[in-house]
Amino acid sequence: MCGIVGYVGGDDALPVLLDGMRKLEYRGYDSAGVALVKDGRVELAKKAGHLSELEGELQHLTLDGSLGIGHTRWATHGAPNDINAHPHLDCGGRLAVVHNGIIENHDGIRDELVAAGHAFRSETDTEVAAHLIESILERDGCSLLEAVRRSISVLQGAFALVVISVDEPDRLIVARQESPVIIGVSEEVGLVASGIPALLPFTRDIVPLENGQIAQITPGGYEVFDLKGAAVEPPVVHVEWDMEAAEKGGYEDFMLKEIFEQPEVVQNTILGRVDPSGRIVLDDVHWSADTLGKINKIVVVACGTSYHAGMASKHAIEHWTRLPVELDLASEFRYRDPVLDEHSLVIGIAQSGETADTLAAVRFAKEMGSPVVAVTNVVGSSITRDADAVLFTHAGPEIGVAATKTFLAQLVALNLLSLYLAQERGSMEPEKIAETIVAMNRLPDQVEEVLSIQGEVHRAAKRYADAKDFIFMGRGVGYAVAMEGALKLKEISYIHAEGYAAGELKHGAIALIEEGVPVVALLTGRALYDKMLANVEEVRARGAQTIVLAHQGDERARLLANELFEIPETKPLLSPILDSVPLQLFAYFVAKERGLSPDKPRNLAKSVTVE
Ligand code: AGP
Repeated sequence: MCGIVGYVGGDDALPVLLDGMRKLEYRGYDSAGVALVKDGRVELAKKAGHLSELEGELQHLTLDGSLGIGHTRWATHGAPNDINAHPHLDCGGRLAVVHNGIIENHDGIRDELVAAGHAFRSETDTEVAAHLIESILERDGCSLLEAVRRSISVLQGAFALVVISVDEPDRLIVARQESPVIIGVSEEVGLVASGIPALLPFTRDIVPLENGQIAQITPGGYEVFDLKGAAVEPPVVHVEWDMEAAEKGGYEDFMLKEIFEQPEVVQNTILGRVDPSGRIVLDDVHWSADTLGKINKIVVVACGTSYHAGMASKHAIEHWTRLPVELDLASEFRYRDPVLDEHSLVIGIAQSGETADTLAAVRFAKEMGSPVVAVTNVVGSSITRDADAVLFTHAGPEIGVAATKTFLAQLVALNLLSLYLAQERGSMEPEKIAETIVAMNRLPDQVEEVLSIQGEVHRAAKRYADAKDFIFMGRGVGYAVAMEGALKLKEISYIHAEGYAAGELKHGAIALIEEGVPVVALLTGRALYDKMLANVEEVRARGAQTIVLAHQGDERARLLANELFEIPETKPLLSPILDSVPLQLFAYFVAKERGLSPDKPRNLAKSVTVE
């Protein structure tokens, strides 16, 4: 997500901040900014676009000072423009804040602060933190550290905050809740950053803050406190990583890092979308219940992995809303003369928001008078301008070419959208929606649990890395997972792999099964479990080696599996969010066993902007 750098010391802060921000650039960002404290004033510069835009702006300004914060922004709330770029100031311009994460309850806090006379400049969730801290300082007359501590008991969601103030020009105040932030240990200066690469020029000794911790960093010193204000002493960690290893967070590849980020991504995509009364609120989807009530079909268009997310969502939408869903590859859609009108709701899915075919499909739908909602990971991307409504996935920038965390985020977002439609149209009982939300809230921990079987997945990948062909099969939502599992393997290992609806196998593809062909089978679906089991028997009888995904403790599956990946149980329509994870790991480890670089597969581009 966003990059944060903070510095306090004897030297000029600006070059340190810019260097640190450059070291965090690899994560992707859409705007950048710095704030410095000098002579009782906060001086600010921020610009949309590349760091060079900010550096250009800085040439016209004389910004200096020995206390400062810098930020590279990956937009979540508000377009990527100059005003929404961080840092954000309070009304009085006495304090500045940078933030990584999502403040879930920003709307309510903003309303209260506006009512109390605070004037907001940006559309960001972050700005509420600046005004909230200002209001606490005015009300309580406490220190900045104490005001930040009091503010974080009000803020909900995920955040790493760094705050500076003209009134305490020798310190950085830092707070962490879910989003990472790290103190750099130094005897001369005070340092903080969201990632280790920004700290490496100064130190290899770091203190990663834990959730609920607040720190006060001064030149050559730091103190850490818990939420109650009691001092704590988190351990100092010594890192040996070089710059490249630090960028990958110690993982060998970005793809692996991104797979392991998924618990947080799932959580971030849910954050802020269920209000305290249990209603689903999607900020940028604001059709009236009346308009949504008139929708008589839903059309989902997307390419590649996004299409597979759409495949899974068809099941959820139809089951929960009782509306028929058509699913189209965006590259086919506009050439087949589809039947669309103002009562057809079109969902365009594109992590990049720039895929040429998906954009053309969305534009076509608009010309036909259909309302369009885009599901994308990139704020300000083309699809957000073309669609009438947008649902952002909050996966953060994805560097590996093969989509992993953006796929999981799409699955989560599409489930939320399906539940939202069901809620607005009254097609699902509120108790059932609430039950599903409870299950969704358990997913981050369950994804974590699935990641813990990486050893088993790696062992299986070693055994099958030389295979020539793979078959993946599933039923229902498991079919979508099978398709995505096969695509991941093809993309990065260059092994021929096909995903099938398991019932279809005997209509042709079973002819491919011979001694030793690996077949990946999704046995996590409850409804068609016995049928899937029969399909596994069929391929085993013809010599297939079976790699089976089944629920923990499934002894029948164990008997039929050459390799067994055990998955925790969730609601059936949510199962792709868990089942996809071992298949991503499997593709990754197979590619590594074959000596390939998973981050940059041949012939592929991250965003396909041509037809
Ligand atoms: C995913 O691993 C692929 N690289 C590719 O299929 C991708 O999903 C497709 O190009 C669509 O991209 P989008 O989500 O940005 O539209």
